[in-house]
Amino acid sequence: MVFLSSSLATLLILAGAANARLRFPCSQLVTQRVDPIVSPGNASAHVHQIVGGNAFNFTMDPALDLDKISTCTTCRYKEDYSNYWTAILYFKHRNGTYLRVHQFANIGTGSPNGGMTIYYFPPRAPTKNRTVTAFRKGFRMTVGRQRRRSDDRSPYLTEHKQTTFRCMQGTGLGAGTPGVGPDDTIEFPNKFCTGGIRSNIYFPQCWDGVNLDSPTHQTHVAHPVGDPKSQGLKIFGTDCPPTHPVRLPLLFMEIMWDTRPFNSAELWPTDGSQPFVLSQGDPTGYGHHADFLFGEGISKSCPGLTIQTDEEMNKCSLDPIVDEVTEGTYLEKLPGCNPIHGGPDPATDCGAPSTSVGLTVALPLVLAFIHEISDYVQI
Ligand SMILES: *[C@@H]1O[C@H](CO)[C@@H](O)[C@H](O)[C@H]1NC(C)=O
Ligand SMILES: *[C@@H]1O[C@H](CO)[C@@H](O)[C@H](O)[C@H]1NC(C)=O
Ligand SMILES: *[C@@H]1O[C@H](CO)[C@@H](O)[C@H](O)[C@H]1NC(C)=O
Ligand SMILES: *[C@@H]1O[C@H](CO)[C@@H](O)[C@H](O)[C@H]1NC(C)=O
Repeated sequence: MVFLSSSLATLLILAGAANARLRFPCSQLVTQRVDPIVSPGNASAHVHQIVGGNAFNFTMDPALDLDKISTCTTCRYKEDYSNYWTAILYFKHRNGTYLRVHQFANIGTGSPNGGMTIYYFPPRAPTKNRTVTAFRKGFRMTVGRQRRRSDDRSPYLTEHKQTTFRCMQGTGLGAGTPGVGPDDTIEFPNKFCTGGIRSNIYFPQCWDGVNLDSPTHQTHVAHPVGDPKSQGLKIFGTDCPPTHPVRLPLLFMEIMWDTRPFNSAELWPTDGSQPFVLSQGDPTGYGHHADFLFGEGISKSCPGLTIQTDEEMNKCSLDPIVDEVTEGTYLEKLPGCNPIHGGPDPATDCGAPSTSVGLTVALPLVLAFIHEISDYVQI
């Protein structure tokens, strides 16, 4: 029965039933200053790297049938016309110019051209309600705060480790659960990573069940709440809050940044800081963020997911629609208006004066709070 409508959505539910995860690579579709969720209809504030279906555009109306207007996808499953994107990494040279850091294939994912690895995980015990609902057509969400420049756990406790970095050593996957492994940090690692740097990005897995999007692109979804101690991932709680009762598959992304060519003391800043910045002018890494726009097609000829080769994935690509140079050469400045802002106060639009009172006032309170909850959260 269930195979009659077999699709990415169904497979995710089957995966849930089988307690299995789905892991697949997507090669690079395009790198450009476009974000149809946050800045529909125009160039976005900073550069993103995008994977998935080739209908990606300035505007992605939720009513669009992405399976009809896409002709290919860069993801392993031919029916996945979703788009997944993140900020990109630049290396800041001592002379003040920026070079885009390339992405490389994750272990065991074949030879995608850059891009990322996508995972879908089912909820596990002791989560009480493990019924998973498929993403609906037009659904979209973002994760992370691009202006964030500090480890501000209050009032963001459940999300403070949703984006992290793993300082990869050698050629393995590294140790421990992503986000809480011994080589994982919320900020950029401040040492050479012999295997490059990996982004670990967890999307929220609870939905209000109604809205395909929300003004912030985040309030229609939430992370699970409750005691995380007994939960496998050790980062979020177990169950969906009453405000967001519908369980979605856990979408998790990994991006392998090839920082290996820059592992040299002569290339790093002399002040002891590290040289990488996110494309929105973030030298801390706290502002890492990602977007997901669901799009799925059901194969007419074969009622299931079709696996395509690395070559087919790599062949699918788009030319940038924003006419500017973002990579391949040292740039005088980050594309868009993204002056480097080191925090700890949040960044502002294009370096505008901050109206925030900053952490000075709140710090004692924050510290008291962290102390209070440190027994509760496994960190
Ligand atoms: C689009 O961006 C350009 C360049 O930043 C700007 O001049 C223009 O006003 C924007 N258009 C809209 C509709 O926002
Ligand atoms: C993007 O949108 C423009 C304007 O609607 C259209 O001309 C163009 O073909 C679209 N590009 C893709 C790749 O769909
Ligand atoms: C900065 O260094 C890079 C790498 O050596 C070089 O290509 C670039 O021309 C330099 N730019 C300036 C402004 O010195
Ligand atoms: C479990 O969650 C689903 C939504 O994901 C909901 O429809 C269902 O009623 C819930 N079941 C129980 C027993 O709470």
